Amino acid sequence: MRVLEVASEAVPFAKTGGLADVAGALPEALARLGCEVTLVLPAYREALAKGLPIEPTGLEFEVPLGTRRPVARILRCRLPGSAVTTLLVANDEFFDRQALYGGAEDYPDNAQRFIFFSRAAIELACRQAAPFDIIHCHDWQTGLVPAYQKILYHAAPAVARARTVMTIHNMAYQGLFWHWDMLLTGLDWRYFNWQQMEFHQQLNLLKTGLVFADALTTVSPTYAREIQQAPGGRGLEGLLAARAATLSGIVNGIDTTAWNPATDPHIPRPYGEQDVGEGKYAARVALAARLGHAAPDARPLVAFVGRLAEQKGVDLVVELIGRMAGTGRAHFVVLGTGDPAAEESLRRVAAAFPGTVDVVIGFDEGLAHLVQAAADIVLVPSRFEPCGLTQLYAQRYGAIPVVRATGGLVDTVVDATPEAIREGRATGFTFGACEAGALVHAVERALDAHADRGLWLSFVATAMRQDWSWDTSAREYLRVFERSLAFPPTA
Ligand code: ADP
Ligand code: GLC
Repeated sequence: MRVLEVASEAVPFAKTGGLADVAGALPEALARLGCEVTLVLPAYREALAKGLPIEPTGLEFEVPLGTRRPVARILRCRLPGSAVTTLLVANDEFFDRQALYGGAEDYPDNAQRFIFFSRAAIELACRQAAPFDIIHCHDWQTGLVPAYQKILYHAAPAVARARTVMTIHNMAYQGLFWHWDMLLTGLDWRYFNWQQMEFHQQLNLLKTGLVFADALTTVSPTYAREIQQAPGGRGLEGLLAARAATLSGIVNGIDTTAWNPATDPHIPRPYGEQDVGEGKYAARVALAARLGHAAPDARPLVAFVGRLAEQKGVDLVVELIGRMAGTGRAHFVVLGTGDPAAEESLRRVAAAFPGTVDVVIGFDEGLAHLVQAAADIVLVPSRFEPCGLTQLYAQRYGAIPVVRATGGLVDTVVDATPEAIREGRATGFTFGACEAGALVHAVERALDAHADRGLWLSFVATAMRQDWSWDTSAREYLRVFERSLAFPPTA
């Protein structure tokens, strides 16, 4: 099966969040199952600056974009450690920038940038020697691709018989733009209606993908249910409920090579289940040094790593620290970047409790690994969470997640109820209400358990033994691909 994966970010080329982890690992997992996979990405400045073996292909072509025809230059690179060909779409006007999508504010021309990228991706597909069976798109940045395939490219041999699959990583980002941006798409105004591309007088690129794709997936079964209702569907719940028969929830895997405490180059002492104590202590020493402390303290380490966005419940973390730091029961470490107000309140709470609270504002892949290795408890108090990867990394690194019971967190963490403990299934602590009190209570439960050495080690062992590798999930994607090929394309 020939599969074209189209995404706006992928590890190791460029990353702002979990989408990059998924788009960087799923292609290889599909290749292991026998698919012939090509990945298409924008050639961001960040991707080109990493010293990866990216080379020119000599292929370049004009891309219709409203009244303009900017040029796409195609670069090539093997996805490191795999047989997957990665094609990067270069255009300096759009992608030679500091960040992927913008800073505190999105770039004002993001519609142009990703309409260009989507059109370039399908034009690029049309220029490949063999036809594709599946075109797999991720999130709003690629939402136009299924529409292009059905409307403008249905006669192009390389893509005409392909089925399109749209994966939703987050309903909170829909790619909503001014209606005049419709002109940039090259699609007829008649598609700008409430059943197709329009959402309350605006152009909605995610909705476009959800309407035109042959099959839909999202990144966990629980989130697949949540988005068919308000508020999870963010206004598109009706559309998603209507397409429920083609919507599946597939939990993300993790890249078990990049996230492996036994071989991780970002941590000082590799470890496994047998020597997790030693490994974590060495990581703690390295982390303390990195944070400017002479030595680590003896208290359990409670950590948060993530985008500082409303979704992630950072406000709950700030309040938790405010309430608990004075008790002396734990040391807190936060690594994140995002909302300036959240960054400021974290800095403030760190300044109030020096020696107990460390806050690092920034994006640092290596440090994220070190924090997971050093941590005893990892917080994921999200308001909503389509899948979430930090709780999976935590388990693999022997850190116990404390999560809010929402979305993929429900599907990947087993709360330490007496019954789950008895059956040896517990891998974390969950709480329901989206308020600091509920988080504090869950963290206290975790700290109480931590004080019982034998009990804690059994949690750690169970968590570390979970298999979150891509094999199972990639097989589910393959089934979705096969099923959509067995049916005629949706009209
Ligand atoms: P989301 O995609 O919503 O941000 P996920 O849990 O799926 O959430 O994925 C987040 C990914 O981004 C993880 O790989 C996490 O380690 C990483 N990450 C988030 N913030 C940072 C940061 N400040 N520094 C390094 N890595 C980060
Ligand atoms: C999104 C979601 C996150 C998910 C990731 C990868 O960014 O917020 O929950 O894990 O995509 O699918």
